[in-house]
This record gives sequence, structure tokens and C-alpha cells, in this order.
Amino acid sequence: MGKSNVVDWGPERLRMSPWRGDPNIACLAPAGGRPLQASSLDAVVTELRERGYRSVLTAALTVNEQDTFLAAGFRVHEELHLLRHDLDAVPTLSSVRLRRGRRSDVRAVLDVDNLAFDRFWRFDSLGLADARCATPTSRFRVAEHQVPVAGYAVCGRAATTGYLQRLAVHPSLQGRGIGSSLVVDALRWSRRRGARSVMVNTQSDNSRALVLYERLGFVRELQGLAVLELNLQWP
Ligand SMILES: CC(C)(COP(=O)(O)OP(=O)(O)OC[C@H]1O[C@@H](n2cnc3c(N)ncnc32)[C@H](O)[C@@H]1OP(=O)(O)O)[C@@H](O)C(=O)NCCC(=O)NCCS
Repeated sequence: MGKSNVVDWGPERLRMSPWRGDPNIACLAPAGGRPLQASSLDAVVTELRERGYRSVLTAALTVNEQDTFLAAGFRVHEELHLLRHDLDAVPTLSSVRLRRGRRSDVRAVLDVDNLAFDRFWRFDSLGLADARCATPTSRFRVAEHQVPVAGYAVCGRAATTGYLQRLAVHPSLQGRGIGSSLVVDALRWSRRRGARSVMVNTQSDNSRALVLYERLGFVRELQGLAVLELNLQWP
């Protein structure tokens, strides 16, 4: 399982990788916790063009992070809702059996992921590895229900914030409480580990996930996130 390139660009840190394994599309994610300088972004874009990429997509960026990219000609590709749970009242766990995700589960996990998500959002092994490494500590849980991997979640914690990085349930096993159980597990783990809140984002048209998150106590933030893109074939 590979990981994306982490590149130090002057004082800034970036993760660069092919988008879902597509050698024509680069994925760019600020990784240093500070907004990218315009000059650094220009240099990165030039480098990606020279490497033969045809376009660049960003990770989901906050409004502050978006500024430099928009000024450099990036356009909004998709808007996302950002939701927060303050961990004051965490629902109790249901009876769905959850267990630690193992290396031997990765193939089945990716199968579930690919069935649950649209082509654009599907994870490959690199995407899954990145989600698991995005925070200093993380948790990878799978739900067993009729099959060894009926659904899975990746969550993580950095300082006092938990992040629900990924959640998917096999389409033929949805509506049975598996997704809710995985979310509740992530909330409880985050709280045990000292998090004060948990963040999650989801596509603005994903009403099923939105209803689920809000039912479990997440509240939508006023400002969402966006995935931006730049076509590198235009001069
Ligand atoms: C979003 C997703 C994870 C939800 O998983 P799920 O297992 O269907 O979730 P749950 O069963 O816990 O809850 C979904 C519904 O089932 C209902 N439900 C919960 N427990 C139930 C049970 N024991 N029996 C029957 N229905 C139940 C819930 O009331 C809920 O109803 P809703 O239609 O009002 O939302 C799943 O639809 C999915 O994988 N979607 C594609 C990927 C995705 O969007 N991931 C999240 C992106 S951030």
C-alpha cells in the first residue's frame, strides 16, 4: 500500500499524488497547517505541468485555504458540507458487530467503497492509506453483518479534534443501522482519546449521509469546504 508524496516547498508542506491512481490528474493537499503562498502554488503548478499532468484537483479545502488557489485560476469542482459534533451527548452503541480493520480486509473494504461511492469519490488503496495517515492517530473499523465486511469507517484525531475521514456501507446492506454504528463508534473513540469535537464533510447532494449525521447530533457549519480544479492544458 503506497502513500502519496509529501513535499516540503520552502516553508510549506504539500501532499501530491495521482488522483485515484489516474496519471493524468494530480491531487494536491496542503499538509502543513498554514495557507499556501501564491508563489509556492505557482511553482507547484509549473512542476505538475512539466510532469505531464493534464489537470489538478485539490483535497477538500476550507474557505481560507481556497483563496490562493482561486487567485491562481482554480475553479470550484464540488462543494461539500462541513459538520461538527461537540461530543456533549454521544448516542449509545448498537448491536452491530464492529471490529478492527486488518490488512487482509483491504480488498473487501475497497470493494464496498467502490460500490457505495460514485466514480469520482471512489478510493483506491492509496486513497485509503492516505485517509488512515491523515492524522497522527487513526482508527479503521469494519462492520460484520452477513458478510465479513458490510461497511467500514476511518476516523482520526489531531490534537482535540476528531475527523470522520470515511464511511461506506455495502449498498445491499444499507438501512440496517450499520452506518450509524460506525459513526457512533468514531464519536466514542474520539471522545475517549481526548477530542472535544468531531468534524465530517460530505457532498452537498448526499442527503442520506446528511440526515444520518444530523440525526446523530452533528451540526452543519456555516461555511463548507470545496474541491477545486485547474486544467493544466490551458496556458
Ligand atoms: C451514508 C451511509 C454510510 C449510511 O449507511 P447505512 O448503513 O445505510 O446507515 P443506517 O442504516 O445507520 O441509517 C440509514 C437509515 O436506516 C435507518 N435505520 C437505522 N437503523 C435501522 C435498522 N436497524 N433497521 C432498519 N433501518 C434502520 C435509519 O433511520 C436511516 O434512515 P434514513 O433513511 O432516515 O436516513 C450509506 O448510505 C453509504 O454508504 N452511502 C454511500 C457512501 C457515503 O455517502 N458515505 C458517507 C459520505 S461522507
